[in-house]
Amino acid sequence: MFSKKKKTKWFKLFSSLQEAESAVVIGCAIKVVVDTDELCLVRTKMNFYALKNQCPHQLFPLHNGVCTEENEIICPYHRYKFDLNTGDSHSENCSGKLQKYAVKINENGLFIGLEKEVWSLF
Ligand code: FES
Repeated sequence: MFSKKKKTKWFKLFSSLQEAESAVVIGCAIKVVVDTDELCLVRTKMNFYALKNQCPHQLFPLHNGVCTEENEIICPYHRYKFDLNTGDSHSENCSGKLQKYAVKINENGLFIGLEKEVWSLF
């Protein structure tokens, strides 16, 4: 019997950490396309974060947002702030949450983990 399951599929976005660092300036967020999904890739001093490129407030794109020292991204449209670790809103007028994706960095590059539905036997 076949069943549909969600499974994390890893996509290589950059071939090395240096390539990723030269593509995204610290404190900035850029648009990237991974598989068929449009994401926002954010770089802070310590980490990279991959987010759905859609603000939880009014669904405008998050790329071109900027980061704060408190590990938040500020949406470029209405300047609401969202926590990059938890995804929670730090603005009173928005209770939405960022949709985050896994990021993995190793000697082979920077990878984004997307949840994809796959068919499996049993
Ligand atoms: S659309 Fe992002 S804060 Fe309004």
